[in-house]
Amino acid sequence: MTGSSQQNPAVPAENELTQALESMSVDQYLDQLHTDFDPVYIMLMDYQCAVTRVETKFDILNKQLSIRDEHNPIESIHSRVKSLDSIIRKLEKNHWPISIESARENLKDVAGVRVVCSFVDDIYEIEKYFLAQEDITLVNRKDYIQNPKPSGYRSLHLIVQTPIYTEHGKKEMYVEVQMRTIAMDFWASLEHKLRYKKSLNPRTAEELAAELKACAEESARLDERMLQVRKRILEDAAGAPS
Ligand code: GTP
Ligand code: MG
Repeated sequence: MTGSSQQNPAVPAENELTQALESMSVDQYLDQLHTDFDPVYIMLMDYQCAVTRVETKFDILNKQLSIRDEHNPIESIHSRVKSLDSIIRKLEKNHWPISIESARENLKDVAGVRVVCSFVDDIYEIEKYFLAQEDITLVNRKDYIQNPKPSGYRSLHLIVQTPIYTEHGKKEMYVEVQMRTIAMDFWASLEHKLRYKKSLNPRTAEELAAELKACAEESARLDERMLQVRKRILEDAAGAPS
């Protein structure tokens, strides 16, 4: 990974994050981030650019396909750049060096884009057109729709690389894309909230995990039924006299 300091002598060395955090908290560090030359600011801006770029791609695909199919395949798109606090916690948890260089190399989910589609079929179709773009390089693909997690979690996860063009030159950025249906999103949001409820006794926790998994399966059946409804509508429309 090319450090921005090599192109611009005004930019401080990237490993200054570790030194800075020895003398102040993450919040204090963020409070004093007011210069465009700060390497952490540059890193977060780079991820913001990558997120915007990927988000726009999905936005355009949605518009194009909605004209072709008279239906919006994407219900909503949400993006986030991981907070500096979470970046540091994840580096620490994995025993990776606490530096900007290390974050750029090791963390593939600092930039995240979540695409919520209407139907399961839409997910794979959008994925196909997205990955066909020449400035998108697939790094990793996990299909938790075909192979749900033990928790019941379903989504399609893609880690891609995409270039951004900055005043310091071209940078290849990792972006995590999560694609799911409205039903999968509904389940994941509620499960995420419940997972962070502390102080459950182990027996209750186990029972609730089983219940949530059953809800995920029911929700997957609902997705399948909705897909069948759509297929019948399309078949009916194709057969109807004009
Ligand atoms: P991380 O270090 O957490 O990023 O794990 P990983 O790199 O192995 O990625 P994984 O494929 O497990 O997906 C991570 C992301 O998927 C999480 O940050 C969540 O957004 C989502 N996710 C994965 N499993 C679950 C789950 O069981 N429930 C919910 N609600 N979300 C999940
Ligand atoms: Mg993650």
